[in-house]
Amino acid sequence: MAKIMVFDHPLIQHKVSMMRDKNTTSKEFRDLAREVAMLMAYEVTRDLPTKDVEIETPICKTKVKMLAGLDTAIIPILRAGLGFVDGMLEIIPNAKVGHVGLYRDPDSHEPVEYYCKLPEDIDKRRVIIVDPMLATGGSAVAACDFVKRKGAKDVTFMCLIAAPEGIEALTTAHPDVDIFIAAKDECLNENAYIVPGLGDAGDRIFGTK
Ligand code: PRP
Ligand code: URA
Repeated sequence: MAKIMVFDHPLIQHKVSMMRDKNTTSKEFRDLAREVAMLMAYEVTRDLPTKDVEIETPICKTKVKMLAGLDTAIIPILRAGLGFVDGMLEIIPNAKVGHVGLYRDPDSHEPVEYYCKLPEDIDKRRVIIVDPMLATGGSAVAACDFVKRKGAKDVTFMCLIAAPEGIEALTTAHPDVDIFIAAKDECLNENAYIVPGLGDAGDRIFGTK
């Protein structure tokens, strides 16, 4: 059964609140997305396996813990997921980055695929799909479908704001995928936007509206 974690850390709550504010500029929004991604990455990677390695400090030889195998792949859902990549790479610098291009059809709200490029060894990696918004869940479900079809076996989903409808859709379609959420919101509106949410994440990151 999937693990669902909603962050209650004051630093994350504060930064997400600033991102929600309609007066926050695109530059500020991008900076905050990078900072929240770094804070979330700490928890998302908590169960990465470690191994004992012998090293020598200036004082003596000793056994220490280091990350063992199972390298990471960060997969942003285009466009808005790109806002999380830099922060994730600061914390996990040896991660590879794949891309899944999806947009929501404005009328049906169904995800439409336009791009998919993943690391070749995706089957051997811990895959972390990142996207700020989990609204109907259509995009997240489609992204999980893609990466699993390409061989991914260990998949985690990380987002900024989730609606209950999106969490339900993702856990139903992919009960093995753990979900990390900075803030859980109330509902969707008639246009399938998250309420209160932060508006269109892609537009806010890239300043397209
Ligand atoms: C947004 C967001 C998610 C999706 C969430 O992308 O970044 O990918 O909507 O909605 P869902 O859970 O109902 O699928 P959008 O389709 O607006 O594309 P964009 O990132 O290119 O703006
Ligand atoms: N996509 C967004 O960018 N925002 C929402 O609230 C829902 C979908």
